[in-house]
Amino acid sequence: MFRSWGMCALAGLIFFVDTTLAIGQTSCVAFKSSPATFPIVNNGKGTPILLSSDDWPGVQRAAADFASDIQKVTGVKPMLMNATTDKLPQLSSAIIIGTFNKSSLIQQVVQHANLSVADVEGKWEAFSAHEVKNPLPGISSAYVIIGSDKRGSIYGLYDHSEQFGVSPWYWWADVPTTTHSQLFVTSSGCAHGTPSVKYRGLFLNDEQPALQNWAMEKFTNGTGAALTNSPFNHFFYSNLFELLLRLKANYFWPAQWSSAFYVDDSLNGFIADYYGIVMGTSHEEPMARSIPVEWNLFGVGEWDYSVNADFIYEFWLNRTEEVKNFDTLFTVGMRGNGDLPLSQDGNIQLLGKIISDQAKIFTTVFNGTDIGEIPQMWCLYKEVEGYYDNGLRAPDYVTLLWTDDNWGNIRRFPLPSERNRTGGAGVYYHYDYVGDPRDYKWITSSQISKTHEQLSLAIDRQADRIWILNVGDLKPYELGIEFFMTYGWNASVWNPNNLDNFVTSWAQREFGLSSHDGATVTEIIANVTRWNARRKPELLNQTTYSLTNYREADTVLTNWEATSNASTRIYNALPSNKKAAFFELVHHPVQASFTLQNMWISSGLSALRASQARISANTYADQVEDLFEQDYQLEQQYHQLLNGKWDHMMDQTHVMYYYWQQPMANTMPPTTRVQAKKQALAGPLRVGIEGSLGAWPGDNPNQCALGYNCPPPTLTFDSYLPFGNRYIDIGAGGPNTFQYTITSNVSWLKLTTTSGTITKDTPDERIFVSVDWTKVTGVENASIRITANAAGQGSSSQSVNVVANHTVVPSDFHGFVEGDGVVSIEAAHTSRNTTIDGISWSELPGYGRTLSAITPWPRGGDEKNFTAGSGPSVEYDFYTFNSISGGGKVAVTTLVAPTLNGLGPDQRLKIAVQVDSLEPVTTQFIPAEIPGNVPPGWDGLDGFVANSIVSVPNTFNVAPGAHTLKIWMVEPTVIVEKIVINTGGLLTSYLGPPESVRV
Ligand SMILES: *[C@@H]1O[C@H](CO)[C@@H](O)[C@H](O)[C@H]1NC(C)=O
Repeated sequence: MFRSWGMCALAGLIFFVDTTLAIGQTSCVAFKSSPATFPIVNNGKGTPILLSSDDWPGVQRAAADFASDIQKVTGVKPMLMNATTDKLPQLSSAIIIGTFNKSSLIQQVVQHANLSVADVEGKWEAFSAHEVKNPLPGISSAYVIIGSDKRGSIYGLYDHSEQFGVSPWYWWADVPTTTHSQLFVTSSGCAHGTPSVKYRGLFLNDEQPALQNWAMEKFTNGTGAALTNSPFNHFFYSNLFELLLRLKANYFWPAQWSSAFYVDDSLNGFIADYYGIVMGTSHEEPMARSIPVEWNLFGVGEWDYSVNADFIYEFWLNRTEEVKNFDTLFTVGMRGNGDLPLSQDGNIQLLGKIISDQAKIFTTVFNGTDIGEIPQMWCLYKEVEGYYDNGLRAPDYVTLLWTDDNWGNIRRFPLPSERNRTGGAGVYYHYDYVGDPRDYKWITSSQISKTHEQLSLAIDRQADRIWILNVGDLKPYELGIEFFMTYGWNASVWNPNNLDNFVTSWAQREFGLSSHDGATVTEIIANVTRWNARRKPELLNQTTYSLTNYREADTVLTNWEATSNASTRIYNALPSNKKAAFFELVHHPVQASFTLQNMWISSGLSALRASQARISANTYADQVEDLFEQDYQLEQQYHQLLNGKWDHMMDQTHVMYYYWQQPMANTMPPTTRVQAKKQALAGPLRVGIEGSLGAWPGDNPNQCALGYNCPPPTLTFDSYLPFGNRYIDIGAGGPNTFQYTITSNVSWLKLTTTSGTITKDTPDERIFVSVDWTKVTGVENASIRITANAAGQGSSSQSVNVVANHTVVPSDFHGFVEGDGVVSIEAAHTSRNTTIDGISWSELPGYGRTLSAITPWPRGGDEKNFTAGSGPSVEYDFYTFNSISGGGKVAVTTLVAPTLNGLGPDQRLKIAVQVDSLEPVTTQFIPAEIPGNVPPGWDGLDGFVANSIVSVPNTFNVAPGAHTLKIWMVEPTVIVEKIVINTGGLLTSYLGPPESVRV
């Protein structure tokens, strides 16, 4: 049975219909005829498709895709022809496709059938499709797809293709098309209005080694572009732009680090415009020029506007001239060469002049056009946001592109005073990054729940003009990319409670799974992204997860293994034509992430076991070597799929970082070995206990402070241990086989085994010890003795002390009970929840590091806040037996998500925590940042984003007994994941103690 800690519940998922393949959109496709359907392909005959020769070439092109998509599904290719109203073909029915205000055929249909066009007229990227009777003279019925503009028509076509069964990823992720002999649309059809976000796009970035090496092999004859050696030519971009349009994206920032879009292939710009993609350039590449590549090729003098303005002006002017007839969204402003800040002095005045000179260029080039009509964007990235905060402004018509911190936390949302700009605002978001505290660019590591939380706030705060997503090499972020685009297309469809439906419908669309298996894939994806997001794989080390406390590393591996097995089960059961897609989209990320995690934990255990003089150190060392090979095998398997279609796509190094930047080679994590042919000085028997790094008998620095002459280990028990038991490890201290027996001096200790054999091939045995609480009153002591008999060596033994404390809560208490010296609570598990002004702390299912999170919802609009003690609150009843060092204090750590002070300097994130009727304590947990910088505590291997959590510490005077913890909303958008109350026993771990027992 596939069960794992932290996964979303199987029950409660709603499954979309099996027949149509839609993810959230209205569905209008059927595979059986009914009185309310119109035939696309019926009895082997395709209904002809009529276009107008005066429509956009990009619509003509997409219509050809539409016709071949129908052929992919049915085997029948419908006729596709231009029709003019004076020479209509003899047809009784047709599919008529065209753009409003562009296609003369559509104009004729509108007139002839007296069609209402309110749903497309004057709209941006809208479409409408339905059956029309007597659309044109002689045609009795047609299915008419009208776009409000070029992309409206294209999206209308691709929306149908997707529902027919052609995945947007049919080429990019090898998703096979499910075939049907009959294909219909509903007469009522489907429609979509203007998208929620106007420009929705991708940024291919840091594309070396994977994407670049792959593209070089697949799209060139081994040599790239003449000046740059870039492989990103129009063959590559044609494939990419089709994908973008099928995903209903419209905007694109090209690869830049060793490429220059308009220079690499003179057809690149034309192809983008022809397909219907609005071209941009990244935040640091003004005026459609690639920086640094083009500057390094063609620049004369310095990339410094204070000394080289004339040349740089010309450099920008020339490109603006070149692309003036293409759909372009110009980046304005300027950064230093190589994505670095401009030189330190006089930046604000200089940048002001740069922006006004760029306006001059637009005036010159687009002579006669209102320059406020030319799409322009100024990205407030890193230090540029600091200039903005210090007063620098761009013209009103320029879109302000706010950014995240490169780690998915948006730095600032538009304030009310910033929202009536005609240029509006947008967001630059990352799924992939090169920089501090460490690159993450290998594998999927972003949770949809988090993306939704941040972008829903962008919708709320009207940062909806541009959304651009940095996707590194594109693969393997397919699902995340699709969610980003789907959400930007229609934000009203998605909320925290139906995000699982998105993944389930995606899994059903891509792999044709049953709803049960679709839900399993949803859990797999939720697990992989959660576990890769709570610490990026690049940041893992030997002891990220505690090897001794809370069974943390063990649990991590057990859960990975269960998820891996679930994925393997589905992979094995899939028909062979679906295996490649499943491997790319699900199975490889699971296997590869599990392998890397296992490698690091095994590496840590090899070091720990060696320090304990246990020969199992070598078993773990061997395992690291095997896993290091397996990691390479998985990469190879990916590269060999479909005769090498994705060769190089997994070239990214990812094992063992030495600093923030990617390692030049994968390096095997350290292995530590003991001389297993020789017996340890302390004898064959090694004893370790849960919660300790030490080992007995003999000396070890972790046994006691002195490190020698230490007492035997002690196992402590109370009635509310989260696991209900403790373990003792019996290990081999050398090659000699021995028999062990375990005895205790009391009747109330239960052991899973009392005797066994340790050999060099089975060098570790884990024995679980529990207490029969019916036989223990108060605190009782006991002793366990482990005796080992090795042939020819006589016996040796080790004792373990036991202290059992029969803690008891009053029978009328309900809530969390202290166990093991802590109370640990998942934030969603409230005792009470109080709504104020319609706002309550609501669960964000699947969000965060362990289970889920809570946040005030709805967010309540601008400047909605409360003083501590007056707003929405959640309460948790808990019971304690101890306090820290018996001093009457407990430490309450509220673990919150590392979202930033995005509501502006006057509304920094705050939360208030209260115990019983003590004063609530308010904490502003993200310190104020220097303008343009990340806040103190953000960076470093133990910072907010590396740990993917922020701790809010408070101390309260709390006597043992029943209590209530309250968390108060002070500011919106605070996200609480977990609460840990330390009553004196808290041990180090990455995720905090497992949740306490709740009675
Ligand atoms: C329709 O006309 C356009 C413009 O002349 C042309 O490019 C296209 O190939 C024609 N389409 C078909 C299906 O004949």
